[in-house]
Amino acid sequence: MITSLVKYLNPARGDYNLSNYQKVREEFSWEEVKKNFSWYKTNKVNMAYECIDRHVADGFGEKIAIHYVNGEEEIKYTFKEVKEKTDHLATVLKKHGIHKGDIVFVFLPKHPDCLIATLAVIKLGAIVGPLFEAFMEEAIKDRISDCEGRYLITNLELGIRVPRDELPTLKKIFYTEDVDQCLNGEISLVGELRNTEIDNNVLEWVDFEHGLNIHYTSGSTGKPKGIIHAHRAMIHQYLTGKWVLDLKEDDVYWCTAHPGWVTGTVYGIFSPWLNRATIVINGGRFDAHSWYKAIERTKTTVWYSAPTAFRMLMAEGNDLVCEYDLSSLRHLLSVGEPLNPEVIYWGQEVLGRRIHDTWWMTETGAQLIVNLPSEVIKPGSMGRAFPGIEIAVLDDDGERLQPGEVGHLAVKAPWPGIMKEVWRNKEKYDSYFKFDGWYISGDLATIDEDGYIFFQGRSDDMINSSGERIGPFEVESKLIEHPAVAEAGVIGKPDPLRGEIVKAFIVLRKGYEASAHLIEEIRLFVRQKLAAHSAPREIEVLDELPKTKISGKILRRELKRLELQRLGE
Ligand code: PRX
Repeated sequence: MITSLVKYLNPARGDYNLSNYQKVREEFSWEEVKKNFSWYKTNKVNMAYECIDRHVADGFGEKIAIHYVNGEEEIKYTFKEVKEKTDHLATVLKKHGIHKGDIVFVFLPKHPDCLIATLAVIKLGAIVGPLFEAFMEEAIKDRISDCEGRYLITNLELGIRVPRDELPTLKKIFYTEDVDQCLNGEISLVGELRNTEIDNNVLEWVDFEHGLNIHYTSGSTGKPKGIIHAHRAMIHQYLTGKWVLDLKEDDVYWCTAHPGWVTGTVYGIFSPWLNRATIVINGGRFDAHSWYKAIERTKTTVWYSAPTAFRMLMAEGNDLVCEYDLSSLRHLLSVGEPLNPEVIYWGQEVLGRRIHDTWWMTETGAQLIVNLPSEVIKPGSMGRAFPGIEIAVLDDDGERLQPGEVGHLAVKAPWPGIMKEVWRNKEKYDSYFKFDGWYISGDLATIDEDGYIFFQGRSDDMINSSGERIGPFEVESKLIEHPAVAEAGVIGKPDPLRGEIVKAFIVLRKGYEASAHLIEEIRLFVRQKLAAHSAPREIEVLDELPKTKISGKILRRELKRLELQRLGE
């Protein structure tokens, strides 16, 4: 990108929660932030208490906490109702043996039940593992078996995909609906809730370092790793909600991500509720009409989404926007993949608002690089370091690079949101900190004289398709399970809509002929076993794959080079 062609966007005049970035940055102290929590005085810590119970205790019980819409369906719950429902569910879960420190997976669609289940688990001091609703058998199995998960909350529709026979540690499955005949270890929550009296003191106090949530995230090698966060992350998640999302008393806030992706948990549940905002949930899949309708119906004021979603909305045309009243929107944000300047200009022109890019990772627990509503946006930049966070671009020896030079995007550790551990993988955890005191993100970036940071790609083979982080190894492993596939190499191919798409190069086993039918069968095989977003959108058959001479490892870099060369021709 030629920087001189980029039009900087000035902030609109407004009363923002943070209005003087430089000054706040200079005087910043995380200690001061702690004063905003009830535990500052009581010494009693639990994320769920700060998200829900505290607001009821402070007299905001009647405020709407959730506004769910899905077609004609609509549900609204107040904070008081959410408190009762989470207490009630927690009481039932406790009765069934769930204790502090247990891992409980939640596999539910975008619906109030999903948020209630998440908070109920946290109330017990258990660790919640939200699973993405698009996950299929294998993806579910990998995650639950890796951490020997014993409990799962799901519904009848998604629960079918859970391969119980292959999950010996899984002791109990809770279904949100009425179930006619439960098999051994299956529990219908409807019946249980009916027969169990609420224990209003079910909430367990924990320590700051106590496990809060586990999200599995892909790397370029091996299966996805379980990243565990601690309750202390709330300090960081609260403050980014206040300053970056700019959440205020009357905000109606919609984060479009499902809680299975860490954004949907941290910025779809924790951060807005720590700030006492009303959370919007729009059920169902992406559909431009339904999205605009959800904003109109709920009068969404603050909207956090992702570049692919904005590009899909752009592709639907600007006329569609005029059919809806979107005048409630006051603040737009994006995360997860590079936000093209064109999308920001579209937001400005068609929605009348700037789109504020933000950067973070599952491992970082909260936003670290941000565009604040009160500051200039340089389209193409992810923004600047959040106050209290130090970012640097380092060379391969861990030395700081000059502005404009491409290097490793690094963060001075620790900070309140940083992961607590990688589940039973100290080696992996340590690998993020190979330069003393710095967390190395795996992203490449440049920084300019004003501290604005520009994403330049990944230093490894990770694929980012529509904001989903996809590890090539996981897809390759699945591909070679298909009887026709002898070898597979998977890369991210640049794509105008999705940022990247998953492209697989395969070598067929002897006796198999390449055909459109076979390719489609292989694609569906990955889709049905792993997840729709992991299935290669393109599969190309080669006679052999490029490999390293000594170890015979597949050279994904070479495949990528070939693909980019072709695209450039
Ligand atoms: O490569 C970066 C990309 O997404 C990765 C993190 O993925 P995940 O852990 O699934 O995300 C969790 C919450 C965002 C990063 O290493 N990424 C994230 N934000 C941006 C981004 N790439 C470019 N621009 C961003 N704003």
